[in-house]
Amino acid sequence: MKKFLILLIISAIIIVPMQAKEGMWIPILLKKYNIEEMQQMGFKLTAEDIYSVNQACMKDAVVIFGGGCTGELISDNGLLITNHHCGFDAIQKHSSVEHDYLTNGFWAKDNSQELPNENLSVTFLKRMEDVTEKVLRGISDDMKGKADSIQKNINAIIKEATDGTLFIANVKPFFGGNQYFLSVNEVFNDIRLVGAPPSAIGKFGGDTDNWMWPRHTGDFSLFRIYADKDNNPAEYTPDNVPYKPLKHFPISLKGIEEGDFTMVFGYPGSTEQYAPSYHLKMITEQVNPALIDIRTQKLDIIKRYQNLDPAIRIQYASKAASISNSWKRWIGEISGLEKLDAINKKEKYESDFQDWANTQAPEYASLLSDYKKVYNTYGDYRLAYNYILEALIRNGMEAVQMAGKFKNLQLAYQMDTLDNEKIERLKKDLDKQLNDFYKDYYQPIDKEVTLAVLRIFKEKVDTAFYPDIYQYIDKKYKGDISKYVDDLFAKTTFTDKNATLKLAAGFTARDIKKLNKDPAYIVYSSFIDLLDNRIAIPYLELSNKIKELDKKYMAAQMAYQPDAIFYPDANFTLRVSYGQVKGYEPRDGVLFKNHTTLDGIMEKDNPDIYDYRVPEKLKELYAQKDFGAYEANGTVPVCFVATNHTTGGNSGSPVVNANGELIGINFDRAWEGVMSDMMFNPEQCRNISLDMRYVLFLIDKFAGASYLLDEMTLVK
Ligand code: ARG
Ligand code: GLU
Repeated sequence: MKKFLILLIISAIIIVPMQAKEGMWIPILLKKYNIEEMQQMGFKLTAEDIYSVNQACMKDAVVIFGGGCTGELISDNGLLITNHHCGFDAIQKHSSVEHDYLTNGFWAKDNSQELPNENLSVTFLKRMEDVTEKVLRGISDDMKGKADSIQKNINAIIKEATDGTLFIANVKPFFGGNQYFLSVNEVFNDIRLVGAPPSAIGKFGGDTDNWMWPRHTGDFSLFRIYADKDNNPAEYTPDNVPYKPLKHFPISLKGIEEGDFTMVFGYPGSTEQYAPSYHLKMITEQVNPALIDIRTQKLDIIKRYQNLDPAIRIQYASKAASISNSWKRWIGEISGLEKLDAINKKEKYESDFQDWANTQAPEYASLLSDYKKVYNTYGDYRLAYNYILEALIRNGMEAVQMAGKFKNLQLAYQMDTLDNEKIERLKKDLDKQLNDFYKDYYQPIDKEVTLAVLRIFKEKVDTAFYPDIYQYIDKKYKGDISKYVDDLFAKTTFTDKNATLKLAAGFTARDIKKLNKDPAYIVYSSFIDLLDNRIAIPYLELSNKIKELDKKYMAAQMAYQPDAIFYPDANFTLRVSYGQVKGYEPRDGVLFKNHTTLDGIMEKDNPDIYDYRVPEKLKELYAQKDFGAYEANGTVPVCFVATNHTTGGNSGSPVVNANGELIGINFDRAWEGVMSDMMFNPEQCRNISLDMRYVLFLIDKFAGASYLLDEMTLVK
């Protein structure tokens, strides 16, 4: 009896990947794996309504927006909606002191006022295909040059799929490389800004509310796709015309209720659902706590100065936001995994897997111990690697980073023959980078961050991975990093904008010596030397070993649970997640509702807290109860949560109801469930979406841009 019970418990764990609402599913396989369940949950359409190559379908209205977000078409005139945080760069680039669109919002009155954006593209999926067999043709596991041979096959597949067309294509590994899928895409490059609310709406709640529920962020922006007169992609010209999509989403005004079916259709970036317990241990016990520490220190320093001076707050706003976004998610992830007892669950699963392998699949019997060996050293390298990035690249030591920008120039002067054209180009690039950098540079912050980074690196990283600068500090400064940093900032050129710009513009071979002597450049070189000569290669080798093991472990898990239906980890290909509108219990004794309203924005309103300043106009509309058709229960719905399994990249994804009508725009996940990248908990994991009724209310009543509603398809 006891044995039977244990078995029952174990199989309950094994079933996790099959849970109804978990998973990011491949659109071309919905018919096989999901559509029945989706329909049982209330979905009224067919698999072909979502993905088909023979008829217009939802996939024709979903795009990759820019480099890492999703967007969707909401009119037959190429009108597209995505998040405010996804359109942020474009909005910012068009903003100036005279036209501060970030602060005031932007609304094009007609097509002629829409603003083109260099380097912004949207990508439609034309078709997807399982090409596993073609990719692995002639490949054996132990062959030499395996990766190159696979790449050759992939190149041939891409060529065949795109020759004679304007399409581009990619082939990506799924299930750790046990399967490969081809995506054939069409890319449009003339994308114009149509509208954006002020940041006080589009970023309402800021970093304070980021990753949190209850939420009140109006996180959307509007763009329009332009095409040539034949409706084909074209580079920007004023003659281009609004693109006519095969399909756009109708927008529902009917509202949502607890338990309603929801589907998210977009581009989740990356997840690690099938990793072994060693991976979770490394992330939660070693690497992420250290990353959290270094970022906590950076944020504390930046915030202290931001509170002193509004100008500094603006200068460091975007840096603080990018440091804070992952920082906050990591903290939530660790506590979510702990609460789930994730490591124990994995270990139990693994011990059972091991029993099975020992008796029935000897080819997999050494897998877990092989993993263990690699993870024994991998964590140290991963931490050192990430700490170098935290020091030099991800908002770390800024003057040191700027000094490093001179490296290419220096190298160009050390070539046997001088390439003057290249040197001029490098100087021009450098001038632009430096000007951008100094616009948002505040030396006292940099000095404190530099000290913190150098201290914490020494404290957290294994002595085997110290850059040689620490030897110098020990010798010259008796190990006193603070004294050393004082000296560095007193002597370096790179805290001085004019001197640095001058150095760049007039750089000649004679300046190489000066550069090599500059203490900021010395620190930079010391870390880069560590990266290049001691970290990069072993780190890559260990990563590749883990990739090999991941592939094998994935196949093993599938063999171990032959009846389970697995979904592949996210890899920034188009996926479907489905679930229900649902509140949750974040902690004992607390119940969260499934939606928020305008009332909550007024409750949060506080002119003293930057993140909670509500625009006057919104307060007026609220006071007058001028809610139009967007009203529900005497207020306007703002955001809602549902059980869809999503991750970074799903930002801007359409959230549709049982009829395939747009009810929301996905933009975040709730704090208690952000461990869903590694383990999903249906009780705690929620995606956060913006309610379309709030979007329409803002466009219509707040912005007075109701002409935009005329081209949309509203379902009342
Ligand atoms: N957490 C959301 C997503 O990863 C929104 C990020 C932007 N917002 C912010 N306050 N930083 O990525
Ligand atoms: N904000 C995220 C994005 O930019 C989505 C949130 C998540 O990680 O689920 O894609």
